[in-house]
Parts: sequence; structure tokens; C-alpha cells
Amino acid sequence: MAWRCSGSSNEELIDNLKDSGIISNERVISAMKSVDRKYYTSSPYIDSPQSIGYGATISAPHMHGYALEYLADYLKPGNKVLDVGSGSGYLTACMAAMVAPEGKAVGIEHVPQLAEMSNKNINKSNLDPSIKKSIKIICGDGRLGYKEDSPYDCMQVFKISFLHVGAASPVEPKMILDQLKSPGRLFIPVGDYSQEILMYTKDSSGKITKEPLMGVIYVPLTDLDQQISK
Ligand SMILES: C[S@@+](CC[C@H](N)C(=O)[O-])C[C@H]1O[C@@H](n2cnc3c(N)ncnc32)[C@H](O)[C@@H]1O
Repeated sequence: MAWRCSGSSNEELIDNLKDSGIISNERVISAMKSVDRKYYTSSPYIDSPQSIGYGATISAPHMHGYALEYLADYLKPGNKVLDVGSGSGYLTACMAAMVAPEGKAVGIEHVPQLAEMSNKNINKSNLDPSIKKSIKIICGDGRLGYKEDSPYDCMQVFKISFLHVGAASPVEPKMILDQLKSPGRLFIPVGDYSQEILMYTKDSSGKITKEPLMGVIYVPLTDLDQQISK
């Protein structure tokens, strides 16, 4: 079980994610070890989602591990990545650790206070300055991606509920897929109440394939007013 990955330090947590088979890519392991979660949340080494205020959570470490592992081939030095719903900034920082120094990790978050907090988290962390320089946090609605820095080698999106017309009949996230390079990859939970993570892969000719990965329960991406009023 994923919750068993909790540890007493960042090192131990990441080792537990590795021992449980959630992460195995050496670059993912090294990135997650270099980004200490203590700068991003108050109970950093517990393998569960935690509130970060404003109706938002930082996702569980095992979910961050899965996202990085599935995107690892597209998170190479020099690549560009978009993290939609970047919240605490933790995952964006891990992505930056994998694409820096020439690459760029763009996080988009619609709660202004969280966008500001994520910048503070990153700045106060012990990340190498060259990795910090590869991170750009945008405050805005990420439901249509972020065209300005597109195309991206890969993107990760925290559930875009408006993309679905019902769990049985999901609509393809076309606007987001259009911002993906050929080749490129998107990691995205889809569905209404319970969701599944889909991995879209665009090959070098632009052909897109879709693969269901696992069932999850995520808070949906939503309107700012709706989220803050909870
Ligand atoms: C499950 S949290 C994940 C946060 C982040 N990835 C982390 O692990 O710290 C989802 C995030 O998406 C943000 N969000 C929700 N709807 C959004 C939207 N329309 N545009 C941008 N961000 C949004 C929330 O404020 C929240 O911070």
C-alpha cells in the first residue's frame, strides 16, 4: 500500500517509494531526493495528501512519484514541462530538477496566495540556484494549459473536470494536447467522482495514443470562487 511509504526523513520517504516499486528511474529518485518536502508542507514525510490552505492540498508523495516516473523519459535536461495546478510548488521543483539547467518547468496555479507561497517555498529551499532559475510560476487559470510557453515536452494536469461530459464519456483534452510537442506526453486524471489517470503519448508524427494507468480520487480543477468558498 502506498501509505506505507511514509518515512522519518526525505531520504527515507524516497527510499520507501523506491522499495515499493512506485519509482525506479534513477533520475526521478535523485530529483525527489534533491527536493526536500519540508520546504513545501508541514508534515512532509507522511505519504498522504495534506491541506495547504485555500481549499487545496499537496498531493501524496506516491502520486508525485507516479507522475514523475511516467513522465521521466520526457523530463530530460533541456526539456520544457507544464505543471497545471502547481499548488505548493513541490512537483514543479522536482520537474525542474530533472530538466535544469537549460530546461524550464512552468507551474500554473489559480489561487494567488498559493502561487506566491510556492515561490517562497522554492526560494527558501536548498535547491541549487540553477534549478531555481529553471522554474516559472504563473498565477492563472490552467484549464486550457498555458500557451505562452508551449509547446511542452510533457505536461501534468490535476484533473480538469470540465473536460468531461460524464465518467462514461470523457472528452479529449484537445487544447492541452495541442500544447504538447511531437513527441510528448501528458499525465492527467479524468472522470467525475472517482477518476482514472490517463497517459496520452504523442509520437514524432503527431499520432496520439491513450493509456489508462490507475484509479485515483483527486480534487477537481475548478473555478477560483468555487474553491475558495468551500
Ligand atoms: C491536488 S492540488 C495539487 C497541488 C500541487 N500539484 C501539489 O502537489 O502541491 C490541485 C491544485 O490545483 C489548483 N487548481 C484548481 N483549479 C485550478 C485551475 N483552474 N487553474 C489552475 N490551478 C488550479 C488548486 O488550487 C490546487 O493547488
